[in-house]
Amino acid sequence: MRLPTLKWAGDALELVDQTLLPSELVIKRCDSAEEVRDAIHRLVVRGAPAIGVAAAYGVLLAAHSAKNSSPEELREHVARAAELLAAARPTAVNLAWAVRRMEAAAQGQEASAQELYERLEREAKAIEEEDREANRRLGKFGAALLEDGATVLTHCNAGALATVDYGTALGVVYAAVEEGKNVSVYVDETRPLLQGARLTAWELTQAGIPATLICDDMAASVMSQGKVDCVVVGADRVAANGDAANKIGTLNLAILARHFLVPFYVAAPLSTVDFDMASGADIPIEERNPEEVTSFAGARFAPVGVDVYNPAFDVTPAYLIDAVIMEGGVAKPPLGAALAALRRD
Ligand code: MRU
Repeated sequence: MRLPTLKWAGDALELVDQTLLPSELVIKRCDSAEEVRDAIHRLVVRGAPAIGVAAAYGVLLAAHSAKNSSPEELREHVARAAELLAAARPTAVNLAWAVRRMEAAAQGQEASAQELYERLEREAKAIEEEDREANRRLGKFGAALLEDGATVLTHCNAGALATVDYGTALGVVYAAVEEGKNVSVYVDETRPLLQGARLTAWELTQAGIPATLICDDMAASVMSQGKVDCVVVGADRVAANGDAANKIGTLNLAILARHFLVPFYVAAPLSTVDFDMASGADIPIEERNPEEVTSFAGARFAPVGVDVYNPAFDVTPAYLIDAVIMEGGVAKPPLGAALAALRRD
């Protein structure tokens, strides 16, 4: 059973509250753009594609509250919500990308507020549907890279919970399993917020796919024993040259994978590629609350007064990436040229 991570309810956005998984499965209802912004910031909904789709519905909620006013007023609501939502998290480009698409859909001088609202609803639903399709297509391309019996190592959660309902890195695993291959997965716990232990391990267990949880610092040992056939991770933003930002700790894995000659794959839809960003050096890296490092679930384990550095993402340079698996095909080095060839516009 794969739950939809988010659902548009006509006048509200329903989200699986990922801060509570796996102990509790609670649906959080958001009635306004502000609530969606808060949900994105608190990681109630997280993962690059999922926050893009959630933000699109956040903009739609702002339009919903203005659909009986003038088109100008509706557009003002949309512009305010777009600004608020785009600033909720800085690293995943899908967020800004989805919000820009919604703003563009609200243009058109001749339309009434009701017509603009309907246009916005169609656009948000299109963004959601494109994510479903992109994941399934990239999953199939990625599955071709996995042999029957393969063992994959993954980091964080780039699964159904990070997208609308299927996943990018885990989409590759699901597609291979759907093709009849036996695939097992080593799951990095992913400190500090344990998206691997809480979310990926839960998703794979629900799907009946063999999953082995390891602490992040065990990856070198596992790879050194020849137990990993490839690493597959997601991405929050891929620069035009192929440098890829993903959950902190991904860079460690890429370096290890190169050392142990294990293929390192990034699975990401085109909406995660930022062709305006020449290299990963310019990708904004979110820094989060120090308490995420000093405590867990409210229990503090580090001494008061210690300094903390808590970047949520790191950037893996293109030269450590063996392929970017996308809905249009598999981009292989040189990644810059391969990504440009898969670009649609
Ligand atoms: O901080 P998070 O949980 O939003 O980080 C998520 C990741 O790093 C994912 O790997 C990435 O967004 C890709 S999701 C398909």
